Amino acid sequence: MRAGVPSGTSLSVSFARGLGVDRQPIDPLAFELLPPGLAQLAAAPLHLGAVAGLYRAAVRATTFGLIDHIVLRTQAIDAQLVSALEAGIDQLVILGAGLDARAWRLEALKGVTVFEVDHPATQRYKRKRMSRKRPPTDIRYVSVDFEKERFCNALEAAGFRSGAPCVWIWEGVAMYLPLPAVYGMLEQLTSLSAPRSELAMTYRAPGLLPYGAFGRAAIPAVFAAAGEPLKSTLEPHQLASALAPAWEVAFDEDSHGWRASTGSSAKPSRGFLSERLAIVRKRG
Ligand SMILES: C[S@@+](CC[C@H](N)C(=O)[O-])C[C@H]1O[C@@H](n2cnc3c(N)ncnc32)[C@H](O)[C@@H]1O
Repeated sequence: MRAGVPSGTSLSVSFARGLGVDRQPIDPLAFELLPPGLAQLAAAPLHLGAVAGLYRAAVRATTFGLIDHIVLRTQAIDAQLVSALEAGIDQLVILGAGLDARAWRLEALKGVTVFEVDHPATQRYKRKRMSRKRPPTDIRYVSVDFEKERFCNALEAAGFRSGAPCVWIWEGVAMYLPLPAVYGMLEQLTSLSAPRSELAMTYRAPGLLPYGAFGRAAIPAVFAAAGEPLKSTLEPHQLASALAPAWEVAFDEDSHGWRASTGSSAKPSRGFLSERLAIVRKRG
């Protein structure tokens, strides 16, 4: 993260959700969250008529498939979240929330307390953009730099109830943190989670960067140049052991699995197959 500047990757994933799939945004709030120029580019398919498909395909190609990847990721996590809420869970913590607009856009979150935990610079930007938009639910903000601070005390001070189950969403964040910070966060969220809690977390598996030697050099360089270097990878079995014995892994798949679980018309992208989504449940 660059000092004092909101996360650029949070803007790019919001852009992808605004562009959406089948000519429809999967997050219409992206148009309010993004700076005006980027919001216009994300909204273009709504106005382009017959050439909307061509426009989207061009953006998809120039971003190595980011658009479809993010659509699939967000849809898979939404589906898991809604089913956890149907089971009666009434608190949600979004770690590294960025421009996540679930608290505003998901009807199922009515009556649920939503804690958005994020880097102060990104959170400041988001709160400014959303200042005039009342969320339909109780939303509480917690500012933390995950590389420098623990979040558990601040979360409890904001009203988190560790005696009650919760859903944790940790989407597209772990790869930007060094491994000790990732393990530290897993330890904290485990200590705060009552039985039946659920965690949806994405992480980057090693060795899967596409496009050969070019990809192995260029992809990390692009993230580093944007001020958000990729800092960690995990093998699925390493994550499972870090979570054991407290958590049981219910799902751990790349974007092919996300598509199969949602039936989405977005297509997995070769450029991002190294990102996996794990859904885990706290044992009783
Ligand atoms: C790719 S964005 C993902 C945002 C959001 N989860 C989503 O999917 O829309 C990465 C997020 O991680 C947060 N982040 C990165 N490094 C962080 C740190 N050291 N402490 C707190 N948050 C951090 C950024 O502020 C940003 O919101």
